[in-house]
Amino acid sequence: MANIVIIGTQWGDEGKGKIVDLLAERADVVVRFQGGNNAGHTLVINGKQFVFHLIPSGTLQKKTCMIGNGVVVDPAVLLEELEQLADAGVSVSPEQLRISDKAHLIMPYHKVIDLARESKKDACKIGTTGRGIGPAYEDKASRCGIRFAELLDETLFAERVRGVLEEKNFYLEQYFSLPTIDPEDVIEEYRRYAETLAPFVADVPVELEAVAAAGKQILFEGAQGTHLDIDHGTYPYVTSSSTVAGNACCGAGVGPKRITGVIGIVKAYTTRVGMGPFPSELLDETGDYLQEKGAEFGATTGRRRRCGWLDMVLLNNAARLNGMTGVAITKLDVLGGLEELKICTAYECNGKHTAAFPANLRMLEGCTPVYETLPGWAEDISGARALKDLPEATRNYLNRIEELAGLPIDIVSVGPERGQTIVTRNPFEE
Ligand code: GDP
Ligand code: IMO
Ligand code: MG
Repeated sequence: MANIVIIGTQWGDEGKGKIVDLLAERADVVVRFQGGNNAGHTLVINGKQFVFHLIPSGTLQKKTCMIGNGVVVDPAVLLEELEQLADAGVSVSPEQLRISDKAHLIMPYHKVIDLARESKKDACKIGTTGRGIGPAYEDKASRCGIRFAELLDETLFAERVRGVLEEKNFYLEQYFSLPTIDPEDVIEEYRRYAETLAPFVADVPVELEAVAAAGKQILFEGAQGTHLDIDHGTYPYVTSSSTVAGNACCGAGVGPKRITGVIGIVKAYTTRVGMGPFPSELLDETGDYLQEKGAEFGATTGRRRRCGWLDMVLLNNAARLNGMTGVAITKLDVLGGLEELKICTAYECNGKHTAAFPANLRMLEGCTPVYETLPGWAEDISGARALKDLPEATRNYLNRIEELAGLPIDIVSVGPERGQTIVTRNPFEE
């Protein structure tokens, strides 16, 4: 029996969705444990693209999917996603999608506040996705959040909305000079969501325990990436949740002993959307090449992703923080056609080489990457289905990553399609 956590090792968009979909074939349940619809997880199956923001990426494998208490849920987005799936011929029943009654709701005022703050801030703009994620987690921590449990209790929900909006409306009107929000409109809008979503709401930890006790396998789907983690990321240029593997336990409601493996998803180069330091960023034609060939546009906001070389300081930091047991390398095909490739093996900070990831952002911004150069390859590798199909230079690049990370590469992705993958060790088949 294996229960595996999938996390991003960089700044998100590593290709987690593709790998979760692939591994979900051998899992019984797939559960999201943090984040919200700031995530955009892309799956390509037989030429058809699906982007999931809230629904776990195991849905197309017809697995039971769960949204844990650690996720913040915008019910309108969830319903829209369910509708889009139905239109594509994939109907998701309440038995197939379970939503924790303890998951917090993203409310209309969260989105307004997120956007208003981003347009007011100049110097310290974060470049959020504008989906209300930060304000929703803030309310959770300050204990004025509203959960599915309250949503399903009409009287309690109305009381909570009216109470919370007293303070939010003061903030919107007095601080941002924005129109206030009528609580009765929100109550009416969310009453409709409650009606539709009620059958999906469940006690997720109890259901997960039953799954685990029956010897079935659970796949935990992380969103964002380790360096967007609220504690361990490039604060304040981070998201508002804990994105590391440890949070799979809190955010889904299982004990740590249940986890048997952690696969870190590593894009073969690095990307970042939004503001914040990025030591190996390429502001030249190589960066443009990666951006164009990798089609690096945000799956949620459509923003152009910043691109750079693979950074082992990030990868090794992620390996330690997540207790990674293996690596999946994605988008390796995108590197094809470059004469030489660079891997950042350390940072030079104040004249000294360091492999540590500094907490002080001014220090991090002052770091320059120390590179090792490897030969590139010209071949198109998207048809490779085994390591032996890869050119020698490609295998050397992978071997060097394994060496520098001290971890095995279990999966290599050479294209967006489910089948464009080399699996050297399936974590569910040990
Ligand atoms: P996630 O947020 O980590 O799930 O990643 P995204 O879906 O936001 O971004 C990854 C993008 O790369 C998506 O458009 C995927 O379809 C695509 N993708 C995933 N793996 C590969 C790969 O191996 N090669 C190529 N060319 N594209 C890939
Ligand atoms: P997936 O799961 C890439 C980034 C935003 C911004 C910062 C804070 O698809 O990898 P937020 O809206 O969360 O308050 O924004 O975090 N961000 C992501 N970047 N992939 C994601 O998710 C992201 N989710 C948030 O761009 O810089
Ligand atoms: Mg994404």
